[in-house]
Amino acid sequence: MTAGVAEAVAALRAGDLVLLPTETVYGLAADAANPVAVAKIFEAKGRPHFNPLISHVFDLDAAGRIAALDERARRLAERFWPGPLTLVVPLLDASAVCDLARAGLDTVAVRTPSHPLARAVLGAFGGPVVAPSANRSGRPSPTRFVDAVEETGFAAAVALDGGDCTVGLESTVVAVTDAVRLLRPGAVTRSEIEAVVGPLEDGGDPRRSPGRLAVHYAPDAPVRIDAVDRRDGEVFIGFGDLDLGSRNLSRSGDLREAAANLFSMLRDADRERPSAIAVAPVPHAGLGEAINDRLARAAGKIG
Ligand code: TXA
Ligand code: MG
Repeated sequence: MTAGVAEAVAALRAGDLVLLPTETVYGLAADAANPVAVAKIFEAKGRPHFNPLISHVFDLDAAGRIAALDERARRLAERFWPGPLTLVVPLLDASAVCDLARAGLDTVAVRTPSHPLARAVLGAFGGPVVAPSANRSGRPSPTRFVDAVEETGFAAAVALDGGDCTVGLESTVVAVTDAVRLLRPGAVTRSEIEAVVGPLEDGGDPRRSPGRLAVHYAPDAPVRIDAVDRRDGEVFIGFGDLDLGSRNLSRSGDLREAAANLFSMLRDADRERPSAIAVAPVPHAGLGEAINDRLARAAGKIG
């Protein structure tokens, strides 16, 4: 165990918070079983208490100890874990994930991250670790160590530097209960999931994924999406050939590269204090569904 990992595990055991890198975004982590520790997360983020957290576990066996994963859920986990897929499934052990972490629901969101530092911490800690994105509520998720420290570093006893997040977008959230529903588009695409479990039902009632009610991912400057020109005072973020300045999500039009760059480019653009951040159209297919979801939220068009 590296010194950083041992310190992080000790902090979790003591009921303190840890800035934890994952492959998607940085998380602000706590012992899922400890309500006092979990309360510190809600306070640091300014997060409404109706919005439940994701429990991170080392592997499928660990997930099976706290939640009921049926055959569909197991197939999804076997295909995409470790990786950016979160499963919302019936809770088995209420003592492992406290009420506050689940916002009182009888389901729990579980995922197994692939980042080596996150895996080292989860392996050594043993139990589930809740970790929402380390931003203050309503702000873009941090995808670089410095951004995570700037957002909620004040609340963390230990901050682990895992470099830049390679995925850059939050995990896909899929409920596997009566039906299989896409609650939050993310790094694993709709068609990748449908290839395993067949057609997905609509996310439907936003109360199923309480986080979907909140305005999210917004920088301070207004965001203008599907922009094809740059207006006075704006910073422009291009995509592919539509290049009107120095910033471009991916000059080659690669959606993975665009996802990895999205939140850090919004943050850097915001620092210039522009009148608005104009973002070029991004195709909606594949990973584009999640990228456009985050852009629409940043622009205040959903949420
Ligand atoms: O990639 C990620 O998922 C990152 C990294 C740190 O793992 N975490 C993350 O957590 O994005 P957070 O808290 O920002 O988003 C969790 C989402 C929210 O939309 C929340 O409403 C939903 O998961 N969620 C959690 N538990 C749920 C439940 N029992 N039922 C429905 N939705 C749930
Ligand atoms: Mg978040």
